[in-house]
Amino acid sequence: MSSSVAMASRAIVDLTRGAALTSGDVGALVRQVTELAATVLGVQRTSVWRFEGQGRALRCADLYDAGSRSHRVAPELVAADYPLYFAALRDARVIAAVDAQSDPATAELTAPYLAPLDIRSLLDAPIWHDGGLEGVVCHESVGARRDWTAAEAAFAASMGDVVSLALQTRARLTAQAALQEATRLDAEGRFAAGVAHDFSNILQAVRARAEIMGLRGDASVASQVAPLLHAADRGQALVRRLTDYARTREPQVAVVELGAFLTSLAPLAADVLGTKRRLVVTPPPAPCAVRVDPLLLERALINLIANARAATAADVGVVEMSAELAGSLPRALRGRGDFVRVEVRDNGVGMNEETRSQIRDAWYTTRGGGTGLGLAIVQSVATGVGGAVVVDSELGEGTRVSVFLPLTEPPAP
Ligand SMILES: Nc1ncnc2c1ncn2[C@@H]1O[C@H](COP(=O)(O)OP(=O)(O)OP(=O)(O)O)[C@@H](O)[C@H]1O
Ligand SMILES: [Mg+2]
Repeated sequence: MSSSVAMASRAIVDLTRGAALTSGDVGALVRQVTELAATVLGVQRTSVWRFEGQGRALRCADLYDAGSRSHRVAPELVAADYPLYFAALRDARVIAAVDAQSDPATAELTAPYLAPLDIRSLLDAPIWHDGGLEGVVCHESVGARRDWTAAEAAFAASMGDVVSLALQTRARLTAQAALQEATRLDAEGRFAAGVAHDFSNILQAVRARAEIMGLRGDASVASQVAPLLHAADRGQALVRRLTDYARTREPQVAVVELGAFLTSLAPLAADVLGTKRRLVVTPPPAPCAVRVDPLLLERALINLIANARAATAADVGVVEMSAELAGSLPRALRGRGDFVRVEVRDNGVGMNEETRSQIRDAWYTTRGGGTGLGLAIVQSVATGVGGAVVVDSELGEGTRVSVFLPLTEPPAP
């Protein structure tokens, strides 16, 4: 090893105790691993790769170039082209290929990868997650052959273990957060359903009594009764919101093709928006299907449209509703497959920091007539199917609410 064994041990201890690992920040940890491993092993290139698309592609998460001290990513590789390499990775704690271009475990990589980059020796360690091969950490010697020592091989294997540990930590933290969120929403849903039920009965009694008074009384009584009935109706509207919120607990999940869905939702969305604001609906450019309760998704999007209406001014307000395959994902969803991003954007008043930090709480509202349940409904619809909601908003700059839903195969025609 170009550095001492003590330095290698120190490096491993620092990584395992560091914030990146304990907080499950896999991206940051991977960059630390590549940089550290390049220094400790004295190699020119180190990289971390992960399987994507059900194991079909091997995607570079980070490539560190020791010469230029820079991080970048290498082009994706087709996993099926390297069966012997992956079989060797599955079997061994580490692949230590001194002459990588002729070693049976790594020779498949010669023409597309090793020869063009003049990589002579490879020290590759598997990354395991949930009992499966998840990726690989590569240490590459460029231009010169390296006779890897047992200590170097052990160090490389630990780098694979550290990344595996980070993946495990992230999965555990995400599961914990999802459980807490589900428990919170469940408790709120039950509470809301209970309140709605009892409140509805009381309102019906009030309304019935007021109607009788109105029928029996003279004109002066009737004028007193009208506001009573109006208040009771507003109460019933609140009950409906509560019931909506509580109902998000029992979804009827189906495959929803978003192109057709958005197009059919457009007239209702336009009604909610009214004639003084412009609605632009952009269906996804390619077929995009998600698994979700269509009624709940409709409710969620209509809530977002209603929020956009409240936030925008008449005659200048523009509200856009669109869907497309998500390019980048919020951290909590990364590594969990492909997602569709359904968006509602407006050019309205936007939100300040205080509002942004509280919008996820049920009952939080800045509007006189609001209940503060709209965004909570949207949130529970998304998390209920393993998705997430991201709100981007600046004061005076409008608002974009992105609902991420897991992509699924479209229904058979
Ligand atoms: N598009 C938006 N632009 C600006 N602020 C928004 C937007 N959407 C939501 N907000 C802010 O978030 C708060 C919470 O929204 P939410 O939909 O949960 O409740 P609400 O609209 O106030 O009431 P409800 O939807 O129950 O009638 C709003 O009161 C508002 O301050
Ligand atoms: Mg609302």
